[in-house]
Amino acid sequence: MNRKFGNIVVRDAHERDTLSVIRVHFDSVHYVASKDYPIEILDEWSPPVSEERIKKFLINGADVKLVAELNGDIVGFGELLTKKNQLGAVYVSSSAIGQGIGRTIVMCLEEIAKQKGVPFLQMESSVTASPFYQKIGYQVLAHGVHVLDSGQTMSCVKMRKDFLV
Ligand SMILES: CC(C)(COP(=O)(O)OP(=O)(O)OC[C@H]1O[C@@H](n2cnc3c(N)ncnc32)[C@H](O)[C@@H]1OP(=O)(O)O)[C@@H](O)C(=O)NCCC(=O)NCCS
Repeated sequence: MNRKFGNIVVRDAHERDTLSVIRVHFDSVHYVASKDYPIEILDEWSPPVSEERIKKFLINGADVKLVAELNGDIVGFGELLTKKNQLGAVYVSSSAIGQGIGRTIVMCLEEIAKQKGVPFLQMESSVTASPFYQKIGYQVLAHGVHVLDSGQTMSCVKMRKDFLV
């Protein structure tokens, strides 16, 4: 994919984008989701950039990875795990939120999912992103907790959107 929506470009992520993508993740977690979670959770959810994080990201199981560029800079990304009907992640940098970038990334991921014959997408949303997903057609299935590797738990919202066949 490589599509332009005004000054936003959404395209396939390449391995060389990994550092920028992790920086977006860090910024988005520590400066946007920070209003809903304590620092201990944010630190485990998005640790600083390291070789280990880069390796982990490259083998995270997502088969579709898109980045969004605004004026040439990577400011957002999103992922799909199509075999699991799962929207893996959508993150937008704090300096770029509220400009339609998240919505554009999800629209592109949904388009790809539909082309692959995926009948619905589900995910465990952060509390922060849940109103955003509801705005773009996702339904709340349940409120729950996500267990991080250390055993810490963070609130999440199980959500789903069915596609018309
Ligand atoms: C959630 C997130 C991806 C939204 O990205 P964004 O680019 O700011 O969203 P958009 O500008 O495309 O917003 C699309 C619509 O959702 C609404 N929206 C976005 N965030 C919202 C929020 N927190 N509460 C209510 N509505 C929200 C917008 O107002 C917009 O509605 P409109 O078309 O009527 O104006 C971004 O805020 C983010 O990265 N959050 C932190 C990381 C995170 O928790 N990611 C999800 C992990 S599961």
